[in-house]
Amino acid sequence: MIVAIDGPAASGKGTLARRLAAHFNFAYLDTGLLYRAVGQAVLDAGGDPANADDAEAAARAMNPEALDDDRLRSDAAGNAASQVAAIEGVRDALLDFQRVFARLHPHERDGAVLDGRDIGTVVCPDAHVKLFVTADVEERARRRAAEFAARGAAVEFDQVLTDLKVRDARDAARAQAPLKPAADAHLLDTTDLDIEAAFEQARDIVDAAW
Ligand code: C5P
Repeated sequence: MIVAIDGPAASGKGTLARRLAAHFNFAYLDTGLLYRAVGQAVLDAGGDPANADDAEAAARAMNPEALDDDRLRSDAAGNAASQVAAIEGVRDALLDFQRVFARLHPHERDGAVLDGRDIGTVVCPDAHVKLFVTADVEERARRRAAEFAARGAAVEFDQVLTDLKVRDARDAARAQAPLKPAADAHLLDTTDLDIEAAFEQARDIVDAAW
């Protein structure tokens, strides 16, 4: 069983994916972390995340075992991620790892859930269940600002809102694997749902596909 979850930044897809993975005993891959790791590596090397040579070199050198870095959660890493993610060679370099994870996840697991922007459209177009998770941009900015505050990072709400809008626009407008729902995705708007209610809806969709 492969579950593909896509949606814009701070829509709640990561929380949902983790909850589904725990409930159904699935392996979980946050594919945004791969792009964040590439973006952060370019920044660390003093490069330009919008430069194809810099970004592709970092993507080819990326170690998917080394994603446990708090800096990858920062706004700077998220913005760099969305710049490198628009480059075709970067997406190509990360594709195999994601597909192999989806099919050959640890054998003691009953399936895999991947979240990102193009899981249902490009990475796993034959996923058994596809969810496209959205929420109003102001609500997403409130959630993201609260996450930053909980980690002790001082970030202005207006800045978070502006960054989310820039990132969504870039992700949706790019030529390579743009952010959009797969034709057969279930749409889940979490604007007025708490985590539990969103999880129950997603769980019911997976249960029905089992
Ligand atoms: O989900 P997250 O906010 O961590 O993703 C960071 C950035 O990585 C996104 O804004 C997007 O540009 C890119 N991304 C992508 N494809 C994915 C996952 C993330 O292009 N499957």
